[in-house]
Amino acid sequence: MENPTLDFLKQNKPLDESRQGETLDMKREAKDPNGKKFYIESYGCQMNFSDSEIVASVLMDEGFDLTKNHEEADLILLNTCAIRDNAEQRVRARLKNFTPNKKANPSMQLGILGCMAERLKEKLLEEEKLIDIVCGPDAYRDLPRLVAEAESGRKAVNVFLSREETYADISPVKLTKGGITAFVSIMRGCNNMCSFCVVPFTRGRERSRNAYSIQAECRQLFDEGYREVTLLGQNVDSYSWTNSETEENVSFAQLLELVAQVNPLLRVRFSTSHPKDMVDEVLHTMAKYENICNYIHLPVQSGSTRVLDLMNRTYSREWYMDRIEAINRIIPNCGISSDFITGFCTETEEEHQETLSLMELVKYDFAYMYYYSERPGTLAERKYEDDIPLETKKRRLKEIIDLQQVHSLAKNEPEIGKTLKVLVEKVSRRSDEDFYGRSSENRVVIFPRQNYRIGDYVNVKIERCTSSSLIGHAVGPAEIV
Ligand code: SAM
Ligand code: SF4
Ligand code: F3S
Repeated sequence: MENPTLDFLKQNKPLDESRQGETLDMKREAKDPNGKKFYIESYGCQMNFSDSEIVASVLMDEGFDLTKNHEEADLILLNTCAIRDNAEQRVRARLKNFTPNKKANPSMQLGILGCMAERLKEKLLEEEKLIDIVCGPDAYRDLPRLVAEAESGRKAVNVFLSREETYADISPVKLTKGGITAFVSIMRGCNNMCSFCVVPFTRGRERSRNAYSIQAECRQLFDEGYREVTLLGQNVDSYSWTNSETEENVSFAQLLELVAQVNPLLRVRFSTSHPKDMVDEVLHTMAKYENICNYIHLPVQSGSTRVLDLMNRTYSREWYMDRIEAINRIIPNCGISSDFITGFCTETEEEHQETLSLMELVKYDFAYMYYYSERPGTLAERKYEDDIPLETKKRRLKEIIDLQQVHSLAKNEPEIGKTLKVLVEKVSRRSDEDFYGRSSENRVVIFPRQNYRIGDYVNVKIERCTSSSLIGHAVGPAEIV
């Protein structure tokens, strides 16, 4: 199956999990090589994958070379996630695999980066003896010093959370060979306090990156052959950057415009939008530029206003539906996806039904769905009892997954017979003869390669579909207006 969606639907895992543990592939080489090699695996959200590129840049500037083989590494790094308990369990299990590396090469250093490092801090060193370095998401510039400290035999920790750090001046230099799609972080941290969520504790306060450094990075990516950028933030709608010299302020809608103007051939996507902050101005900007994709990820979490209140999402079901109505009005046929959590504290059967009924109203193209996992230190952990039995959480999750699958198919079926403009991203996993691409609405499209190339825009006539992909044939190169 082409789209990892289906694997996800089968396994109840988020889409990103198809990439969990992925290593970096670089085209860049170390500056003044120091003879040492590092290996890095990334877990969690797109932001973590994007951060791993910053980490790589910092280390390569210090002379480290990247290896994809951990057996030859002098430094092994795991960039971790803490969002749910199973994300942390996975990292702990993975750690054990590196025991032989340490035995074979006792001077090898093992570092934990990212959200689990930030959440557990020094405690990680006590719990997992294999670890030498603990480095939080705002301390990556300090990694060379931490490595040197660990080499001298001391365990090294930096989990300082900054109010300013955006790594704006560290060009992550996209590291995948021949890449077409890239992630660009536009902000860090989160100021919302959703009661279930660990992110404000692991990523700190929200801060926006210099708008012109974002635009310059996107331009550089385009010049290097990239054809799609996804602007990343936990709540992109609250992006706000002020030039301290001119006092010019750039909002998210204005940033979108700056990036869209880089080149009409550069597609622009973004994630994640927060329903409380998503304003019509952003939707109008999307409608104005053909290269800003018609796709919005607008996580609702629950269809019940009472549960949303307990989650501290600061919007109601009615507010959310008003935002959906605005999307449909301003950008007809816009792709819409969401996140859901089932079995949050005190959620009743009727409230779960409200989530299902909201899904029926919106008919999402796609969704990431989870059952609630209590996280230490969060508002919900301190205030509410995690009182829904695991069995019930899982049963409710299965019900929303089943319904989403019906909707995903129902949303794909009307595309049959249409001709869609597709950006070719890669060779299909299923067959070397086919290409994998996506439409503006984020629909996966599979078609025979003919003489097209990766990075081309192609018009594809859709002949059939599954719940996760559209299948068709190319009818010619797509015109870019
Ligand atoms: N900032 C994004 C937003 O507000 O929509 C979400 C970021 S979070 C990394 C991704 C998703 O993980 C959330 O939307 C939520 O559905 C899920 N999530 C977060 N904390 C969770 C928890 N404690 N248990 C289960 N799922 C959780
Ligand atoms: Fe977590 Fe809420 Fe912030 Fe998203 S908006 S990262 S769910 S606190
Ligand atoms: Fe996980 Fe941290 Fe992202 S907790 S989801 S890696 S912001």
